[in-house]
Amino acid sequence: MSNSISHKTRYTVTSLCFILLFFFTLFLFSKRTLEPSLSFYRPSFWPTKSQIHHSNATANHDKLNPPADNEAVDDVGEKKREMCDLYTGTWVKDDDYPIYKPGSCPYVDEAFDCQSNGRPDSDYLRWRWKPHGCDLPRFNATDFLDRLRGKRLMLVGDSMNRNQFESLLCLLREGLTNKSTMYEEYNCTVVYVLSHFLVKEGVRINEQGNSNPTLSIDKIDKTSDRWKRADILVFNTAHWWVHGKTARGINYFKEGDYLYPKFDAVEAYRRALKTWAKWIDENFKLEKKLVFYRGYSSAHFSGGDWNSGGSCTGETEPISSGSVLDTYPLKMKIVEEVIGEMKVPVILLNVTRLTNSRKDGHPSMYGKKLTEGDTKSTRREDCSHWCLPGVPDAWNELIYATLVFKKLF
Ligand SMILES: *[C@@H]1O[C@H](CO)[C@@H](O)[C@H](O)[C@H]1NC(C)=O
Ligand SMILES: *[C@@H]1O[C@H](CO)[C@@H](O)[C@H](O)[C@H]1NC(C)=O
Ligand SMILES: *[C@@H]1O[C@H](CO)[C@@H](O)[C@H](O)[C@H]1NC(C)=O
Ligand SMILES: *[C@@H]1O[C@H](CO)[C@@H](O)[C@H](O)[C@H]1NC(C)=O
Ligand SMILES: *[C@@H]1O[C@H](CO)[C@@H](O)[C@H](O)[C@H]1NC(C)=O
Repeated sequence: MSNSISHKTRYTVTSLCFILLFFFTLFLFSKRTLEPSLSFYRPSFWPTKSQIHHSNATANHDKLNPPADNEAVDDVGEKKREMCDLYTGTWVKDDDYPIYKPGSCPYVDEAFDCQSNGRPDSDYLRWRWKPHGCDLPRFNATDFLDRLRGKRLMLVGDSMNRNQFESLLCLLREGLTNKSTMYEEYNCTVVYVLSHFLVKEGVRINEQGNSNPTLSIDKIDKTSDRWKRADILVFNTAHWWVHGKTARGINYFKEGDYLYPKFDAVEAYRRALKTWAKWIDENFKLEKKLVFYRGYSSAHFSGGDWNSGGSCTGETEPISSGSVLDTYPLKMKIVEEVIGEMKVPVILLNVTRLTNSRKDGHPSMYGKKLTEGDTKSTRREDCSHWCLPGVPDAWNELIYATLVFKKLF
């Protein structure tokens, strides 16, 4: 029993780590003079890089007109990249991967540090995501950090976003020649904020004096004040909606003061996302922020679920065929519907399909250091988060590709 860390404990650990990580923000001070402060533009106003360079620090954003199509796209290759669907493609073997060596990055939690925990195979580290219509630009940490200069990038969501956050820190760190000067060279912040649902969690004391959790699907999460301070945001909420109380929806979901005796979790998800969307529209309408929503990341438990003996240990290859590759959950259709109605443009980091095949990428039984006597049958497995290096590196490469292809700052 002591071997199988329960999901609940795990997330308590997560919150502790979160506090550490939150304070571990990267405040990196530039000694060089700042380039023109590159502000954030809504997609229709996003300037080309040359326009940015010709503007100066005090330039009024509104003076920059959106480029005419033929100005923005000056050759066929560029047009192709701009039109390229980054999310339809395949994983290809690439010996230049992984981008950072397993066990080399100090920001990876034990829970994701599979090689250090004893995972014996390593082929899962060598896959690169390749869109059919184009190649992703090679991740360039220096260039990414240049684009982030003076800005704050924030990942908001559950521990899957922490997984992605740690990946990003490692990718950025890898590009520095002197890794101990990361703090001095760039004036930017990368931060992770824990928010399981994006809407407000609360508690209700029942007649027996016990406290029960509730979720106010019409109120934004209390961390939202912090969201305002970021320039680039990556949101997600998904996995907690299929667990226990949330999935059952009994005496759990609240609107106003009303506690629903029973409420459908999918409809609750829709309403919660709408609450989030409304908040973003109201608070970021006049702001130059870049908002991503990272799509659902697939889990691969077989022979049970996360809390009932589900397993993915021994999976060393991605799934190569079958209908599972096209799975696209209802929650994602809801995400698309809600984002589609927003005033503030939100970029969907549509990673679901690329995670569908990666049953080989999870920590499985290697989410903890192996100790004597551990066997597959005595360990609870993690088939929903990802080993690092691993799949979330590709999500961050896709963020980078978006910045490069759309010529954002
Ligand atoms: C920068 O902008 C200010 C105010 O718009 C203008 O007076 C100044 O000439 C500009 N400088 C350059 C180098 O373009
Ligand atoms: C990475 O970006 C920097 C800054 O833009 C550039 O000087 C460098 O050549 C790039 N490196 C590669 C390998 O493209
Ligand atoms: C760092 O960036 C912030 C936000 O853009 C800016 O206010 C501050 O002056 C910058 N600090 C340095 C040392 O450049
Ligand atoms: C890296 O930076 C640190 C701190 O500034 C310095 O002490 C160290 O000598 C540098 N190392 C190299 C190889 O330049
Ligand atoms: C996201 O990817 C799925 C396939 O996984 C596709 O059906 C859907 O249309 C995509 N959504 C967007 C907005 O591109």
